[in-house]
Amino acid sequence: MESNGIRAGKAMQELPVLENAVVGVADGKIAYIGADASIPADRVIDCEGRLVTPGLVDPHTHVVFGGSREHELSLKLQGVPYLEILQRGGGIHSTVEATRIARKEALYKKAAFHLDRMLSHGTTTVEAKSGYGLEIDTERKQLEVVKELQEQHAMSIVSTFLGAHAIPASHKENPDAFLDEMLNMLDAIKEENLAEFVDIFTETGVFTVAQSRRYLQRAKEKGFGIKIHADEIDPLGGTELAAELGAISADHLVGASDKGIKDLAESGTIAVLLPGTIFYLNKESFARARKMLDDGVAVALATDFNPGSSPTENLQLIMSLAALKMNMTPEEIWNAVTVNAAHAIGRGHEAGQLIVGRQADLVVWNAPNYMYIPYHYGVNHVHTVVKGGRIVAEAAGKGLSF
Ligand code: NIG
Ligand code: FE
Repeated sequence: MESNGIRAGKAMQELPVLENAVVGVADGKIAYIGADASIPADRVIDCEGRLVTPGLVDPHTHVVFGGSREHELSLKLQGVPYLEILQRGGGIHSTVEATRIARKEALYKKAAFHLDRMLSHGTTTVEAKSGYGLEIDTERKQLEVVKELQEQHAMSIVSTFLGAHAIPASHKENPDAFLDEMLNMLDAIKEENLAEFVDIFTETGVFTVAQSRRYLQRAKEKGFGIKIHADEIDPLGGTELAAELGAISADHLVGASDKGIKDLAESGTIAVLLPGTIFYLNKESFARARKMLDDGVAVALATDFNPGSSPTENLQLIMSLAALKMNMTPEEIWNAVTVNAAHAIGRGHEAGQLIVGRQADLVVWNAPNYMYIPYHYGVNHVHTVVKGGRIVAEAAGKGLSF
């Protein structure tokens, strides 16, 4: 799983695999990769023919939130569209209410529970967005929870400020003033190291392309990396905007135009695709991954874990959806959840590959080869998860040996 950098387009078909290999770990880091089983060790885990990969990287989640939205499932089944639920004051707004009233300790506990579940499914690095406050105090509360989790939880977490996630009822008539309020938080966020990236939901009824451009330009000037929820539902042109601004990633991209896709290839902006969201929104068309790959775009995959449009922590399930719904090959899929996913959140230098000297984030799978994971869908294939050289999750029962 060693590669020199981001894998774009055709390069995603290459997946270096070693047979009968040994990984040596010392002081939490990878110290050896090769075939020599006689290297001295205090402790040996015999993987008995199982697949071993880098820990998965989930580059787009909304893991800190209050409440849940199971009551919206029946509305959805009656055919009420996602954006209409939002317009009626539900959707994101309902999670905002629950997050505003939640105590910080409660938010921390709940997010830690979801992160534990991600770890147990083989994810060792995630991105976490704010965006369920839509006012200064609650946005800050979410960011502070992420910071505490960065310090205390085994998961590696990258923080993104998504204050521009929806227009709060208080600013319905004046979204620009709301965006200014969020922009005014950026100096403190930078100073206190509360987020590395700034994201915005560019969508019909949320923020326009022009509003997003102004907002993200300011964020960029202040030294933040930028991301966009682009063309998730309606094709507004968020993809082109991400390329124009040199965003590190453009996410969703279901409605991305041909030109937008070409632009991404040229700007080197990573396409973070979220097929679990489309599955869960009950839609028929998925992002055009094949076109992106043919045009030379670097593709990554993520869960989009959130209480509305994608309530799942399981990146393995997303890998199956990428195969079946977007025609991605197993090789492309593995690059999309490791090396490219790490680059999409500025962690290409430390996560997503097995290289001597890096932190030992490894997954041993109850699977004989890498093709097996997207193939056998909907269950957890983890045998053992190693994070920084420590075992952090293990399957109950021994599983098969291969
Ligand atoms: O990525 N699109 C905006 N944000 C999330 C959904 C958030 C929610 O519904 O709570 C997404 O789909
Ligand atoms: Fe999202």
